[in-house]
Amino acid sequence: MQYRTMTTPSLQFLSQQQLLLLLPAVILLVVAAVADAQGQLPGCGHKCGNIDIPFPFGIGIGPGCFGDGFEVLCNDSYHTPRAFLRGTNGSYFPSPYELLSIAVEKGEARVLAPIASRCNTDINVSFSAGMYMDLVVTPFTVSVSNVLIGVGATAVTMMQYTVPAERIFSCLAYDFGSVREEGGNGNCTAGCCEFSPSTLTKDVRLSVRYIAEDQTNMMWSTFPCAYGMLVEKSWYEYYRRDMFRYTLLNRTTQGVPLTLNFAAGKGSCLAKGQVPPPEYACISGNSSCANATYSDTPGYMCKCLDGYAGNPYVANGCQDIVECEQPEVYPCSNEGTCKNKLGGYDCPCKFGMKGDGKTGTCTPVFTPAAKATVGAIAGVLLLVIISFLVILRKEKKKAKEFYRKNGGPTLEKANVIKLFRKDELKPILKKSNLIGKGCFGEVYKGILDNKLVAVKKPINGSVLESDQFANEVIIQSQVIHKNIVRLIGCCLEVDAPMLVYEFISQGSLHDILHNSNNKVAFNLDARLSIATHSADGLAYMHSKTNNRILHGDVKPANILLDDNFIPKISDFGISRLIASDKEHSASIIGDMNYMDPVYLQEGLLTEKSDVYSFGVVILELISRERAIHSDNNKLVKNFLEAHMKQKKATEFFDKEIAITKDLEILESLASMAVECLSLDVDQRPTMMEVAERLLILSRSCKL
Ligand SMILES: *[C@@H]1O[C@H](CO)[C@@H](O)[C@H](O)[C@H]1NC(C)=O
Ligand SMILES: *[C@@H]1O[C@H](CO)[C@@H](O)[C@H](O)[C@H]1NC(C)=O
Ligand SMILES: *[C@@H]1O[C@H](CO)[C@@H](O)[C@H](O)[C@H]1NC(C)=O
Ligand SMILES: *[C@@H]1O[C@H](CO)[C@@H](O)[C@H](O)[C@H]1NC(C)=O
Ligand SMILES: *[C@@H]1O[C@H](CO)[C@@H](O)[C@H](O)[C@H]1NC(C)=O
Ligand SMILES: *[C@@H]1O[C@H](CO)[C@@H](O)[C@H](O)[C@H]1NC(C)=O
Ligand SMILES: *[C@@H]1O[C@H](CO)[C@@H](O)[C@H](O)[C@H]1NC(C)=O
Repeated sequence: MQYRTMTTPSLQFLSQQQLLLLLPAVILLVVAAVADAQGQLPGCGHKCGNIDIPFPFGIGIGPGCFGDGFEVLCNDSYHTPRAFLRGTNGSYFPSPYELLSIAVEKGEARVLAPIASRCNTDINVSFSAGMYMDLVVTPFTVSVSNVLIGVGATAVTMMQYTVPAERIFSCLAYDFGSVREEGGNGNCTAGCCEFSPSTLTKDVRLSVRYIAEDQTNMMWSTFPCAYGMLVEKSWYEYYRRDMFRYTLLNRTTQGVPLTLNFAAGKGSCLAKGQVPPPEYACISGNSSCANATYSDTPGYMCKCLDGYAGNPYVANGCQDIVECEQPEVYPCSNEGTCKNKLGGYDCPCKFGMKGDGKTGTCTPVFTPAAKATVGAIAGVLLLVIISFLVILRKEKKKAKEFYRKNGGPTLEKANVIKLFRKDELKPILKKSNLIGKGCFGEVYKGILDNKLVAVKKPINGSVLESDQFANEVIIQSQVIHKNIVRLIGCCLEVDAPMLVYEFISQGSLHDILHNSNNKVAFNLDARLSIATHSADGLAYMHSKTNNRILHGDVKPANILLDDNFIPKISDFGISRLIASDKEHSASIIGDMNYMDPVYLQEGLLTEKSDVYSFGVVILELISRERAIHSDNNKLVKNFLEAHMKQKKATEFFDKEIAITKDLEILESLASMAVECLSLDVDQRPTMMEVAERLLILSRSCKL
C-alpha cells in the first residue's frame, strides 16, 4: 500500500511580505466606536458583491476597518465580486476561505471549505486525499453545527483535531455493489458515512483514504471516487452516482459550505461591576456578552439582547426588532393583535378570546352555549327596557290626556290654583301616610312646599266633564274663609283628579264627640264656639252671590278642628256646584244620617237641605249622641217628638253640660235645632240666621 500525495493548499492571494506590510491595518476594536449603526466605517469597505461585511469584519487598509483577524479581501475580477477571509498576522488558512455570509449577531461566518477528494481508476493502489484548516491564531472555530461526511465504496474518512484537545474521529463507508447504479434517496447509507462532532474545534485535519482491499474485484473501476468533508448539516444528499460520476466534485469546485463561529474579543466578558477596558468589544447598548465556549484561548462574543437585532460591536448597533412587521418570523395569529414592544412583542387575543395569539391558541371566552345564554339575557333585558320605555311613554301620554280631560288648560289659564305633577304627589301617596278613607276615596297626609297638606285621592273615576271639574276647582279656590278648609292645588294627570288641601291637625268634630275609647271633656263653651264658627262658614258658602255653593254633606265628620279648636268645613269636594239658575242636581252622595228627608223625597237640593243637616249637628252637639239613619233616625225622631209633647228636651242634653245655669242656652240650641229640622222647608231658618243667633247665644254665654 502506498500513499499518494496529500494535497496541500497554498496561499494564493498574498505573499508573506505583502502580509507583513498590511500589519498596521490590524487595529484594535476600540476604533470601531466610530462605525455607524450598520457597522459601516467610513473609508472602509463593508460590502463585497452581494455580501455585507459588518464590523468587526471589514475591507481596506484604513486604521480600524476591521478587528484583529477579521480582514476581508474583496476580489473584483469576478463578474460578481467575491469576498475572502484572510488569516491573522501572517498565519494562514489553507487557502483564503471564500465568505458566503456573515451573521455578526450570532457570531457566525459561513465560508466555502475545501473537500478532501480523489477519483482514481488505478485499481491496484490505495490512495488518500486530505484537507486541513488551522484556526488556532484566528478568532474562528469550526462550529458544531457541521457534520463530518465520508463517501466511497471502501473509504475511511478521518477527522483529527488537536485544539481544544487531541481527538480523532473516523467513519467508514462501504458499498460492495458491482453495478453502477445511480440510486439512493438522499440519505447517507451504503457507501456513505457521517459523524457529528460535539466540540468546537480550532484546527482540523481531514483525510479520506480509499482502501484497495481486493485487487481482483473491480470496485475501483466501478466506484472510483471517494470524498471526505466537513460541511453544514443537511447540505449534502448522498446518491450512489457520487461514487462514479463527478457530479459532487463538479458541484463543489469552490468548496463546501462550512459554518465558523468567532469570538470578537480576546479575554473574557466583564465581571459584574468591572470597568470596561478600552478595547472592550461589546459597545452597543441593548447587547450582552457571552464567553466563547472553547476553553483553551479565552475569548468572548457580543450579542444583541433578545428582541433586538443589529451589530453589537458598534455604538447603537442593537435596535429593537419590530416583530409585527415580520409575521412570518414572529407569528401572531389572526385572532390576535400584534403589539410591538421593546425587546419583544405581544400578541394578545382579540376581544372575547383568551389564550395567546403567538401560539395561535386564541379561543372564545364564552362557549356557544354561554354566548347564547348571554345573548338571551341581553335580549330579555333589552325587551324589558323597551317595554319600560313604551310604558313610560304611554304613561306620559296618558298623563297628558288626563290633564286635558280634567280641564288642565282651563285651570292653567285661570291661574288660581297650583297644578301639581303626578311625580310631586307620588311620594305622599303611600300607606304610611294614609290618614282617612271613605266613600269619596283616600286621604293622605304629606308635605308640599314646606306646608302640611292633605291629599284627597278619589277612588272612582271622575264622572265630570273636563270644564265642569275645572270650573268647580276655580270656584272652590275662591272660597276663602277662616272656617272653610282651603284648597291649595290639584293634580290633573290622573284619571280622577287629586285635590290638595291645607292640613287640619286635630281631626273632626265627629271624632271628639263620639270617640268612644277616649271621651274627652267637652264643655258647652267649646261646643257653642264650634257650632257658631261652622254656621259662619256654611253661611259664607251660601252667601256667595255669583255661585252659591251648597255643601250637601254637612255632618260632624266634615267639620275639622285646627290647633285652636277653630272648626273648618271640609269635603265639599263632593258637594255640587250649582249655578244660580240650575238648582237641580241629578245625584248627590251624602250621609243618610244627616240627609234632609225633603230632599230625599223631592230630589231638590237647596240651602235648606244644608240647614237641616246642620240641625242634626246641633242636636249631636247638645246630646253627644249619634244620629243613625239605619236606627230609623231614632235620635232625631225622639227629639222632635219630645219637643212636640213637652216643649222641653232636657232628657236629651249631655249630662256633662246639662248644668242648671246653662239649661237656658241648651234650650235655645234645642229649639234652634227643632227649627232646622222642620219638615216644612220654609220654617227652617237660613244659614245666615242660624249663624247670627248662634253668635248672640255664645256672647250671652260668655257674660
Ligand atoms: C482575483 O481572482 C483572480 C481569479 O481567481 C486571481 O487571478 C487574482 O489574483 C485575484 N486577485 C486578488 C487581488 O487576489
Ligand atoms: C504575529 O506574528 C509574529 C511574527 O511572526 C509572531 O511573533 C506573533 O506571535 C504573531 N501573533 C499572533 C497573534 O499570532
Ligand atoms: C494491476 O495489477 C495486476 C496484477 O498485479 C496487473 O495485471 C494489472 O496490469 C495492473 N493494472 C494496472 C492498471 O496497473
Ligand atoms: C432517510 O432516513 C430517515 C431516517 O433514517 C427516514 O425517516 C427517511 O424516510 C429516509 N428518507 C428517504 C427519502 O427514504
Ligand atoms: C465533471 O468534471 C469532469 C472532470 O473535470 C468532466 O469530465 C465532466 O464532464 C463534468 N461533468 C459535469 C456534469 O459537469
Ligand atoms: C466569562 O468568563 C469570565 C472569566 O472566566 C467570568 O468572570 C465571567 O463571569 C464570564 N461571563 C459570562 C457571561 O459567562
Ligand atoms: C436600545 O434599543 C432602543 C430601541 O430600539 C433604542 O431606542 C436605543 O437607542 C437602544 N439603546 C442603545 C444604547 O443602543
